[in-house]
Amino acid sequence: MSAFDPAVFSSSSRFEVDHLTIGGVNASDLASEFGTPLFVVDQADFKNRALAWKSALEESFGQNAGSVYYAAKSFLAKEIARWVEGTGIGLDVCTGGELAVAIATNFSADRIEMHGNNKSEEEIRSAINYGVRTIVVDSFFEIERVARIAAELGKVQSVLIRVTPGVEAHTHEFISTAHEDVKFGFSLASGAAWDGISAIRAERSLNLLGLHSHIGSQIFKSEGFAAAAAKLITLLARYRDTYGVELPELDLGGGYGIAYVPGEITLDPLLIMGELAAIVKAECLQSGLALPTISIEPGRAIVGPTTTTLYTVGTTKEVELDGGLSRRYVAVDGGMSDNIRPALYGAQYLAIVANRLPLGDNVNSRVVGKHCESGDIVINEISLSADVQPGDLLAIPATGAYGYSMASNYNHVPRPAVVAVIDGKARLIVRREQIADLLALEI
Ligand code: LLP
Repeated sequence: MSAFDPAVFSSSSRFEVDHLTIGGVNASDLASEFGTPLFVVDQADFKNRALAWKSALEESFGQNAGSVYYAAKSFLAKEIARWVEGTGIGLDVCTGGELAVAIATNFSADRIEMHGNNKSEEEIRSAINYGVRTIVVDSFFEIERVARIAAELGKVQSVLIRVTPGVEAHTHEFISTAHEDVKFGFSLASGAAWDGISAIRAERSLNLLGLHSHIGSQIFKSEGFAAAAAKLITLLARYRDTYGVELPELDLGGGYGIAYVPGEITLDPLLIMGELAAIVKAECLQSGLALPTISIEPGRAIVGPTTTTLYTVGTTKEVELDGGLSRRYVAVDGGMSDNIRPALYGAQYLAIVANRLPLGDNVNSRVVGKHCESGDIVINEISLSADVQPGDLLAIPATGAYGYSMASNYNHVPRPAVVAVIDGKARLIVRREQIADLLALEI
């Protein structure tokens, strides 16, 4: 059913009699002023979610709470980096490009963590030069590279080692990252993680702070995180037994799930952090280890629910299906170029009519984009009012994570604008791409 559901929309979104408002701004006014497709970010919601994760970590781990690093890959723009900085949390970047955005806003270097399974020498140099707090090393080659570049720059670089603990996260295979057969990190089972630790210890320009694992994304149960934490704590104990000192830090990554469609839930930060803290404390107690500093890297759980995509309907058509059934295709002015998630992961979304109260009976509908590909589907199956027509505005909630950040220019479609709304005001934070921007690349 296509109806406004506050559990899926950002917290300041309302359906007021006959139209949607976000941050106190009428969705139709946003569409007229900024055009569609449009990403609308609820600024207060972003700040509140970032702070909720920070306080959940602090409440659950007390003085052993490390940092919440916002995973920039989920969505980054300079304005977002400024909001992140403003809440006092850190930033997880995984490329030189993401780092460049942080640098462009003078983001506090001591709150940046650098990821990436194949960082270039240039990226490593730029990170060390800027003074990022930690680099999460991902391979033996990288240990040598980071050590060499840090030495060249006359610095000692703090690092974490990314461990793949062999945990199957119950999520889409493409977004599950910690089972053995993946490109990321050092396998625990094969002994590579242990060898990686020795290799880091042998480098004078590296300072090993601890272990990192990220088991996957859009995860709802604490079991996977708990299993990974337990394995890492066993490794911490082996380290203590071998070297006589304890590693001070453990970073458990991101991956906390959110609601995309009615009936789904968004993980409560306090609840999941509480569960994790109980496991981590029990495991440490059992191994006789002091509780390490615990950090996390949520991306989706901070930005995902804050953003709604507005599209304008361009065409509709009816298709007869077998058994006397029918389907109505509703085509919008964006699609797989601004949201690849349905095509890539079979991700589901909700859509509502945002500019008026729909009055028709609901009919079996499919929301599709404007790209030259049958798989360009935004919502495979949804019950939408039969009176949906060209010119109507559709609002799709929960598009903040991995929507804009995975946007492409397929079919030379320019990427949408991003606006921030708060207290009845809207502000452009990323301008709409123009065809001229695309042509400017060509020689
Ligand atoms: N930390 C590391 C090391 C990661 O690899 C990721 C995500 C995160 C943190 C943040 O995960 P989150 O809290 O956002 O789930 N494009 C996919 C998701 C890929 C996630 C990649 N790594 C999607 O649209 O679902």
